[in-house]
Amino acid sequence: MTIQLENVSFSYGDTEVLREINLNVESGKVVGFAGLNGAGKSTLLKLLAKRHLPTSGMITFNEIGTVAYVPQEVDEGLVQGLTVIENLMLAIHREKKHVFFSKKKSIEYATQKLSSWNLSLPFLKTVSDCSIYEKQLILIAKALLNDSSLFLFDEPTSSLGKSEKEQFFSFLKVLKKQGKSIVVILHSIEEILSHCDEVVILKNGEINQQSQSKILSKEIIVEKMSSSTFSFNKKRTLQDELAYKFHNINLVDSKPSINIEIKKGEVIVIYGANGNKKSTLAKTLWGDKKSYDLIKEHKTVSIHSPINANKQGIAFVPEDRRKEGIFLHHTIRENVSIHEQGWIKKNLEVVKTNSFIQSLSIFPKDTEKEVIHLSGGNQQKVSIAKWITPNTRCLILDEPLKGVDIYAKQHIFQFIDDFCSNGGCVFYFTNDIEEANVIGDKHFTIVQGELLEGIK
Ligand SMILES: Nc1ncnc2c1ncn2[C@@H]1O[C@H](COP(=O)(O)OP(=O)(O)OP(=O)(O)O)[C@@H](O)[C@H]1O
Ligand SMILES: [Mg+2]
Repeated sequence: MTIQLENVSFSYGDTEVLREINLNVESGKVVGFAGLNGAGKSTLLKLLAKRHLPTSGMITFNEIGTVAYVPQEVDEGLVQGLTVIENLMLAIHREKKHVFFSKKKSIEYATQKLSSWNLSLPFLKTVSDCSIYEKQLILIAKALLNDSSLFLFDEPTSSLGKSEKEQFFSFLKVLKKQGKSIVVILHSIEEILSHCDEVVILKNGEINQQSQSKILSKEIIVEKMSSSTFSFNKKRTLQDELAYKFHNINLVDSKPSINIEIKKGEVIVIYGANGNKKSTLAKTLWGDKKSYDLIKEHKTVSIHSPINANKQGIAFVPEDRRKEGIFLHHTIRENVSIHEQGWIKKNLEVVKTNSFIQSLSIFPKDTEKEVIHLSGGNQQKVSIAKWITPNTRCLILDEPLKGVDIYAKQHIFQFIDDFCSNGGCVFYFTNDIEEANVIGDKHFTIVQGELLEGIK
């Protein structure tokens, strides 16, 4: 099976986002797409998945069977109100025309199919109750359930922890051995070099390089993705002044309650593998789960709602940007200015939005662009900018680098550093040790809802 693209271009309305793409995808190979946020990777994958038709040029699919497509945004690939097993069965019914009305039979079928992949899922949980990494695993399972010949994965590992990522890459090996065609978009250059046979580097909607991975290096890929460079330069110095004490946080009844203090200018990293109540702690600090006591300037306030927390200068950037982080059908300016009160002063909002566009390298640099029309990584940057108001003194960031490219990571680190240099403080939640070490002043590990000092 092969796919051949000849001089393929694609536009969203008047905006051309892919230009003159020539590409061959062959069976038995893993092809990796690399590129900065907004380079056109997802759009190109959607063309291969037949979700979009080219504006010009030709795509030839030879002997293609079923196509398994895992979209970048988990909510695009799942029916939220149905259970996990119902979602899996939808994929099977569509492709195979099997009809299982019995829940028991469906579970038996899926268990048997997934056992060879060593993948177990909470079949009876409603998808909307699943965490984002569980949703990503469901999407991967959906792709594996059918006997597809072409697998298209758009950032399938962005919410996965270390062991889950390893499991995913072991799936790729098996699929490759079976002679399937695989295209995968990844932001980690190390992962691309380790797991892809060929690398396609996109830059501003064009293929800037296409080579076998064995002749590439990290430096070459970085250089081909972008002509500019930016690296984070830590400026902040830790102050001795206490910013907040968070007391009596009870995440799990059987575990000791959590008490944690943060200084002005400090970044505290809460590290943990998925499933250890990392996001629950982040949301609790934001007043969205259980109440706790906040001590600020020797005064104790009970925090029992986000409004409450926000009044004390606390802001929260959630992990699931599309569901909780941004208003997709509003412009970048409207999202960033959502906390302004009183009369709308559009000129001032434009100035403020432009400064975020600059400091977070948001693309396109258009304050009036609806957020739904931004690429995934750029939506993530807007979700961070949205919460920076003059009143914000403590930022809670839950996996803020999900889906952002290597330069944007540096920009976000710099942004955090600048925020802390100006007296702010940050709780940074991550499942990535490297991120934890680069940005944190102090580290904790969360294990089953219990907070342990250091990285375990
Ligand atoms: N639905 C849409 N309508 C209009 N423009 C869009 C739409 N989706 C994406 N774009 C634009 O197309 C360009 C390419 O977007 P695409 O999502 O393919 O980038 P990407 O390389 O996948 O980026 P990321 O790494 O952030 O996911 C971007 O400039 C983006 O703003
Ligand atoms: Mg994308």
